[in-house]
Amino acid sequence: METKTYIAAVRKAADFVRLKAPGFTPQVAVILGSGLAQAVPPLEAAVTIPYGDIPGFPRTTVAGHMGKLVLGRLHGKSVAVMQGRFHYYEGHSMAEIALPLRMLQGLGLKTVFLTAAVGSVREEIKPGHFVALTDHINLMGSNPLRGFHEQEFGTMFPDLGNAYDADLRRQVLEICRQRGLAAHAGVYAAVCGPAYETPAEIRAFRSWGADVVGMSIVTESIPARQMGVKVAAVAWISNMCSGMKGASLNHAEVLELGAKVSGGLRLVLDDFIKIA
Ligand code: HPA
Repeated sequence: METKTYIAAVRKAADFVRLKAPGFTPQVAVILGSGLAQAVPPLEAAVTIPYGDIPGFPRTTVAGHMGKLVLGRLHGKSVAVMQGRFHYYEGHSMAEIALPLRMLQGLGLKTVFLTAAVGSVREEIKPGHFVALTDHINLMGSNPLRGFHEQEFGTMFPDLGNAYDADLRRQVLEICRQRGLAAHAGVYAAVCGPAYETPAEIRAFRSWGADVVGMSIVTESIPARQMGVKVAAVAWISNMCSGMKGASLNHAEVLELGAKVSGGLRLVLDDFIKIA
């Protein structure tokens, strides 16, 4: 897509949302990953917009990703929840995947809370645990900022030194501790997918310092940082990675365990939004 057409699409999507929710300025956005549709407490005065109605939005094609934008209030904050996300492996361009976030930033977004299912590369990080991301290794084979640049979205060469906000991470880990939820801090290796990794790939990623592996997050965190939006990212372990003891790689199981961890994540999000 040409830059001009793309920017027009971002603005058109924002205009549409402004019509549906006049005066709404999202302070915090939450992007819900696989199996987590129920992880956000109900919002007050909520407006729900199916992705399919928003001009320029891509379409979700993955089971377990619902595809709607919910705008409302929680603890006095304006919150935008994306129930369902877009993945590179679905065939969307990285610019298309970034469109909803760019639209939300155009409406005033300051902080995004990313969630995702991941596989664990470390024996001590087990299914059902949470991992607050400290950093990432982008192995997707591309960069979300490749191919076009427009100053209104930020610098072409953003600094990713504090990509995952250290203060927000400390707060998330403290919330998990208070709530009695098993949580770690860790590095996310981003792969393209959709096939799961081979055991040799997982051994390599471990030796490079990765703690968890997933197929999303960086397509959102990099454009967010380019725009100066703060990022908190919390992954939940759906499985041990390929070749590891107890590894079980099956999307249906991801969804099933997701329904179980949603309750814990909901508590974390509720507390996070209070202090965000
Ligand atoms: N690998 C990559 N992505 C994932 C995994 C995995 O094992 N589990 C959930 N998302």
